[in-house]
Amino acid sequence: MTTMPPDHPADQQVPTADPRVRVLVARLRRAGCVFAEQEARILLEASAGAELEQLCARREAGEALEHLVGCVEIGGELLAVGPGCFVPRQRTLALIDAAVQEARLRRSPVMVEAYCGVAPIAALVGRRVPGVRVHATDRDERPLVHARTNLPAGAGVHHGSGLDALPAQLAGAVDLLAAVPPYVPSGQLELMPRDAREQEPETALVAGEDGLDEVRRLLREAPRWLAPGGVLLLEMHRDQVPIVLAQARDQECFDAVGHQVAGDGETAVVRVRRDAGKPGRRDAGKQRAAVPEGTAALQRVERATGIEPA
Ligand SMILES: C[S@@+](CC[C@H](N)C(=O)[O-])C[C@H]1O[C@@H](n2cnc3c(N)ncnc32)[C@H](O)[C@@H]1O
Repeated sequence: MTTMPPDHPADQQVPTADPRVRVLVARLRRAGCVFAEQEARILLEASAGAELEQLCARREAGEALEHLVGCVEIGGELLAVGPGCFVPRQRTLALIDAAVQEARLRRSPVMVEAYCGVAPIAALVGRRVPGVRVHATDRDERPLVHARTNLPAGAGVHHGSGLDALPAQLAGAVDLLAAVPPYVPSGQLELMPRDAREQEPETALVAGEDGLDEVRRLLREAPRWLAPGGVLLLEMHRDQVPIVLAQARDQECFDAVGHQVAGDGETAVVRVRRDAGKPGRRDAGKQRAAVPEGTAALQRVERATGIEPA
């Protein structure tokens, strides 16, 4: 059995004086769990007695730990997750950090997480940025149940493909659009850990031959929704960045295009900014209040997020 995603936080030793722990660790290790000590601790915290035995047996049979215990920890926050849902990855912290910084630079920003799954980005931005108004959208109803739990009260949760389900009044009014769309090339699904292939829907992982079908779609659809000066942040693999930057540069409505590679050396965050000179639907007075004014302010945003033009 493949166990935790490769980007799971480092294993932590737990005291093994307790014979229950020793037995649990030995069973999980025999089942192939690389992070047996840490998993034993999480299972013990989540359950006891007969329930613990059931959870351990299901884990031995290959169910994802996060699906069993119903939560995942990311950036120090606990988020609800469940069977049939994509489990947020630690590598997405790079995009979450960039999104939090972007949101903090704006007053009462409107933030959308597209392709949201259980909505880790919108949830953490919502918890960390006072005054932000968040929306999340996905075409799969299952993760949206958990997204509603993870998001702050009053958040908009929308069911539909791409950005189709967003309410019309958000057109031209989104300051920050962030997404981790599926981006695995179809031919590489077999290379993924077994947990992911078997426990997460293929539609959450794969997007066409080069993995970029949904990224391309988002680049096409984003301009309608972004406010002038609004920013689109996208996670992908480092090797996919040149294709995406080329498409973004071909779209005249974007006036700044850049990317950063995360600490793992593999994950990239692309940042694309909607031309600030063209008014959106939002009235100009409100727009001035929401977006820092002028080129200097926009350059400050770029410095603060650490995302350089490519
Ligand atoms: C890689 S997961 C990311 C989920 C979440 N952002 C996270 O980081 O945990 C991709 C998500 O996109 C959704 N999805 C795939 N294709 C979609 C489409 N065409 N429209 C809307 N959502 C889609 C899947 O249901 C899945 O929840």
